[in-house]
Amino acid sequence: MATDEHSATHPIPQFPDGFLWGVSTSAHQIEGAADEREPSVWDTFSAEPGRVKDGSTAAVACDHYHRYREDVALLADLGVDAYRFSVSWPRVLSKGGLDFYDRLVDELTGAGVRPVPTLFHWDLPLEFHQAGGWLTRDTAARFAEYVSVVADRLGDRVKKWITINEPAEHTLFGHALGAHAPGEQLMFDALPAAHHQLLAHGLGVQALRAAGAGDIGIANSHGPTWSASREQADVEAADFYDLLLNRLFADPLLLGEYPSGLGEMMPGDVSADLKVISEPLDFYGVNYYAPTRVGAPQGADIEFGGLTIPAELPFSVREIEDVPVTDFGWPVVPEGLTELLTTFRERYGDRLPPVVITENGCSYEGLDDQDRIAYLDGHVRALHRAVEAGVDVRGYFVWSLLDNFEWAEGYARRFGLVHVDFGDPATLKRTPKASYGWYRELLRAQG
Ligand code: NOJ
Repeated sequence: MATDEHSATHPIPQFPDGFLWGVSTSAHQIEGAADEREPSVWDTFSAEPGRVKDGSTAAVACDHYHRYREDVALLADLGVDAYRFSVSWPRVLSKGGLDFYDRLVDELTGAGVRPVPTLFHWDLPLEFHQAGGWLTRDTAARFAEYVSVVADRLGDRVKKWITINEPAEHTLFGHALGAHAPGEQLMFDALPAAHHQLLAHGLGVQALRAAGAGDIGIANSHGPTWSASREQADVEAADFYDLLLNRLFADPLLLGEYPSGLGEMMPGDVSADLKVISEPLDFYGVNYYAPTRVGAPQGADIEFGGLTIPAELPFSVREIEDVPVTDFGWPVVPEGLTELLTTFRERYGDRLPPVVITENGCSYEGLDDQDRIAYLDGHVRALHRAVEAGVDVRGYFVWSLLDNFEWAEGYARRFGLVHVDFGDPATLKRTPKASYGWYRELLRAQG
């Protein structure tokens, strides 16, 4: 294997000129300073006993709100072209809240790092949750108003925008299964939350364009779905899972329609909304972690990757055998990224805008994180194979710069290139891991 171009001993091939290398974070997961902003749905959810595995909340998290200068220095030293962070809507609602993003953006541009804000990464202001949250249409209109405010303030320095992050996970975990805030267990009645987030995205694109923004995308989570066998029941279950995870979110954006059967489950006549949802995008952001093996239902609840998949769902999730797994138990399958992107290219053709990998990463313990290096190395190579196969890929962002608040898992899952000492809240000391040095070398070699 040592001479194989896919092996870690061989230099990583050169990506196209202008390729954007970055890292990602999100506001709720790193900022802390919860008492210096309006509350979000995640504050109240994580305060309820049993919701977060280690009983933690993100009230302090990495205290990035107060330590952003140190974190921007880490970004500059790493040598990334761009930094994807999210703007906290509840912070923007609070007095002086936008000032923080003003300072952050100045600090980034001063350090030569391009700011790439995401406008919604799951931390819905509590007041909008109490008014019905993503199950009501009105939340989409409120989102567009907030987007205008942010774009007016930051648009002179921010040139690349992401509307919303992973509406699929926010629908599934937050509204269908209840593992994430707001903790609803609506199963298929959660579908309006998907529609309203997509509508918010479309209205957000319009608001950004009205403010003069020219480079806009979304960050959707996608992965290949592999059938457990060739049996018809397994193949059908896998197709259905693919419909929910991939097509439900990509088809309306790229084709202006819901996959057949799902449009009817959305609230009201959605045909006018689909025109808004399919506003042309400048790039399509993909968060990729792993493929999923799916088979027919097995008549019992299944524990998988920290989640309980209820027996009544028309599919079951199976183990992918003979591959390494991360500390989170997620399979490590770099070639799934190549497969995903070439499948999307075939499925959507010229309707697929240039792709940016807006998240890719893994959870492992330790400072000498050779397993993270192996994961990232494999995925960057797999991404290059997609480029060679003709997929127009323009950027790659590692999740994440820092160890952070991993939602229902609390601080137990470490995704950072930089270790954060949560055991010492007075310092929350940042220590670059081996993977940070590896990524820095990669960025140097890529120019
Ligand atoms: C996707 C989400 O956008 C992010 O918030 C999360 O931490 C990572 N996946 C890892 O689970």
